[in-house]
Amino acid sequence: MCGIIGAVTDEDAQKSLLDALRRMEYRGYDSAGVCLREQGRLHCRKEAGKLANLEQSLDKKPLSGHAGIGHTRWATHGGPSRENAHPHLADGVAVVHNGIIENHEILRQALTADGVAFRSETDSEVIPWLLSAALAAGGKSTGMDVAWQQTVDQLQGAYAMVALTAADDCLWFARRGSPLLLGRSKHGIYAASDALALAGLADEVLYLEEGDIGRISRSDAVIFQDGVQVQRDWQAIPLAEQAAGKDGFDHFMQKEIFEQPRVIADILSAYVKHGVGERPDIVFPAAPLLDTAPLPNRIVMVACGTSYHAALTARYWLERYLQVSVEVDVASEYRYRNPVIGPDTWLITLSQSGETADTLEALRLFKSNTPDNLALTLCNVPESSLARESDGTIALLAGTEVGVASTKAYTAQLAVLALLVLKIAYQNGVMNEADTKRHLTAMRQVVDGMHVLLSQADRLQALTPLFEDIHGALFLGRGPCFPLALEGALKLKEISYLHAEGYAAGEMKHGPIALIDAKLPVVVLAARKYHLQKVLSNLREVQARGAKVILLTDMRDEDIPDNVNAVIRLPEGDSFTTPLFAAIPLQFLAYYVARARGTDVDQPRNLAKSVTVE
Ligand code: AGP
Repeated sequence: MCGIIGAVTDEDAQKSLLDALRRMEYRGYDSAGVCLREQGRLHCRKEAGKLANLEQSLDKKPLSGHAGIGHTRWATHGGPSRENAHPHLADGVAVVHNGIIENHEILRQALTADGVAFRSETDSEVIPWLLSAALAAGGKSTGMDVAWQQTVDQLQGAYAMVALTAADDCLWFARRGSPLLLGRSKHGIYAASDALALAGLADEVLYLEEGDIGRISRSDAVIFQDGVQVQRDWQAIPLAEQAAGKDGFDHFMQKEIFEQPRVIADILSAYVKHGVGERPDIVFPAAPLLDTAPLPNRIVMVACGTSYHAALTARYWLERYLQVSVEVDVASEYRYRNPVIGPDTWLITLSQSGETADTLEALRLFKSNTPDNLALTLCNVPESSLARESDGTIALLAGTEVGVASTKAYTAQLAVLALLVLKIAYQNGVMNEADTKRHLTAMRQVVDGMHVLLSQADRLQALTPLFEDIHGALFLGRGPCFPLALEGALKLKEISYLHAEGYAAGEMKHGPIALIDAKLPVVVLAARKYHLQKVLSNLREVQARGAKVILLTDMRDEDIPDNVNAVIRLPEGDSFTTPLFAAIPLQFLAYYVARARGTDVDQPRNLAKSVTVE
């Protein structure tokens, strides 16, 4: 989604801005722009398309200056064009904005009536015009601080934004509903929507709070909250943000698929404390309430996309082992359906980024309705808004995930959820010590099992011809593998642009069977632990209608049905670990099909890594 950078530096600001924009490319965008202040004038350059277009333009005719703002845009209001790209300018001020200004139409009408001629179709362009009007009305006596506050006060909706003026060597910022942080080094102070943007520019970061507004100069940051100046803590830039190379892989997604055994090993070594023969001791340091909290009556899990799929799998584990009623919903539905929350209920949100707008609003709704209930988050960015607003955070420890298609954060979610279930079950006496240890042993075996699966990458690549000349693909599973079918289909569609559907295998006869023919490859997830015979009978129904079948299974060789077009063997796992194994071939399949189709694997069209608007 959109990326913001602002810099006031003693170095070349154009270079700083472009470096930061490049590091935010992974977020997904369709146009980019920068604006620099030089000798009391603003100079702006914007281009539609990839950042390379802007870089080429700046190579030909560079801008100079020590204060500037930059933006990568992901279109919401108005198509991806140079006119709609940020920064937006008005009479000596320039603004970059992330979020959505919900009252922009009313503001636009009023400004138009005052003679403003808008140049773009965006909601964001009202901001510089409001600012220039406030400056003109206040004159020199009130100044930018007051004009900026007056501008912000007129906005409804979500924003992270930074403004630059021709008159000042400072930048002004404001945050509400969209993430924004500051960075500093001996060379200057920066504002950015993403800590990764600041890697290489800043040594320390400061996460702004909701409602923060203020200004940065080359050596100082001033922050106000409700009109009162506040101090916020600077902290060392997270180490994870410092490395973002492909390390010899062709794509970040490929690299991140291969990182998964390391991620699982890190999770186990961070959270499982017992030695061989000792009592199981699973500890989540940033969620200490879990050590004493009794089993709740109900657990609600809310997330989006791939994170939602991880929650769906965990529902099977929670209900089976804890015997607690579990509700799972996509955040965009949960937040608007007037959910009945009630007492003695936990909320668990799941998010790679921790900045997904709908998930964040679902958390806020839950907390405002029932402040005494526990709200936990499983999140890959411990400094994110979701983590900071939750009562406890379990870090996913997956490291920075750059590929838009989530892979290692997903398996990290599954692994952490498995540990969470084991911890609560053992702690509350609903799982005995021997069973808890047995499951933990199986979790440790995931690391080796994943290595075996990774060594089969070529076999998955060899299956890509099955996805040529097709009208779609179907993924089927039952039990905890049903959400894996959803995830396999999501991975395929988001990076290969092929239509794909995931279905509970038992639902197939209720509609999707009508689609089945020789041009609809069907991926069947058949795990010994999850209703194997029923899945196999679904498989036969698919074969009978001429579909090509790819079977992912941990069955013994002799039990494998005849005439399947491909078999991918999964290591034998238990109910917690089989989904972790199944994830890897599904990711490979999507990855290699996308490669074969020549799509942009790491930055698929129209998609954003972190969806910070609803
Ligand atoms: C994953 O491959 C997707 N790109 C997307 O569905 C993602 O999982 C979703 O937007 C949620 O993001 P989050 O985990 O950062 O909240």
